[in-house]
Amino acid sequence: MMIRTYKSNDEAAVIALWQECGLTRPWNDPRRDIARKLTEQPELFLVGIHEDKVVCTAMVGFDGHRGWVYYLAVAPKLRRQSFGRMLMQEAERLLLERGCPKLNFQLRSSNTDAIEFYRKLGYKQDDVLSFGRRLIPDDDAQQSAPADQSIKRAGR
Ligand SMILES: CC(C)(COP(=O)(O)OP(=O)(O)OC[C@H]1O[C@@H](n2cnc3c(N)ncnc32)[C@H](O)[C@@H]1OP(=O)(O)O)[C@@H](O)C(=O)NCCC(=O)NCCS
Repeated sequence: MMIRTYKSNDEAAVIALWQECGLTRPWNDPRRDIARKLTEQPELFLVGIHEDKVVCTAMVGFDGHRGWVYYLAVAPKLRRQSFGRMLMQEAERLLLERGCPKLNFQLRSSNTDAIEFYRKLGYKQDDVLSFGRRLIPDDDAQQSAPADQSIKRAGR
């Protein structure tokens, strides 16, 4: 497996992988999530290639205080071959290179597979509550404006 930065023609394969891995949600349009990531640190959007196919992803970012990882996904047929570990190691390397002191991520409490995976990698559960407020509803934005317009609004 070879890790490289996402390229625009990976989009369909990446979305198919996220769907196969159960990572898509009705309130997150994956095309918009990708388009937004390409506006901030696109070099930290990683894909893993195996036999010429996109088989894993990690959307990494550093906000100047913490590093974050979203959409960590490994194709179901290729799990337990250390691909997830390799992606996380590369995410950590890239974040350390930028001086990031800590890597965070959010997990659904029902995602027991990922919980075990991250524990194996040495991650500990923080005693925090995760709060959020949606600023751009993807479903509304889809009805009222093309993707590039809502991304420009988000940048203001
Ligand atoms: C979580 C996920 C990325 C793990 O990928 P993977 O390539 O199978 O993981 P690795 O092979 O690198 O495993 C690394 C370690 O975690 C362990 N591990 C991985 N999955 C595990 C599981 N389901 N249960 C227990 N341990 C697990 C491995 O045994 C290995 O430990 P070892 O080094 O002691 O043998 C993959 O299961 C996945 O894509 N899940 C669906 C998407 C998801 O939930 N993403 C995370 C939230 S965004």
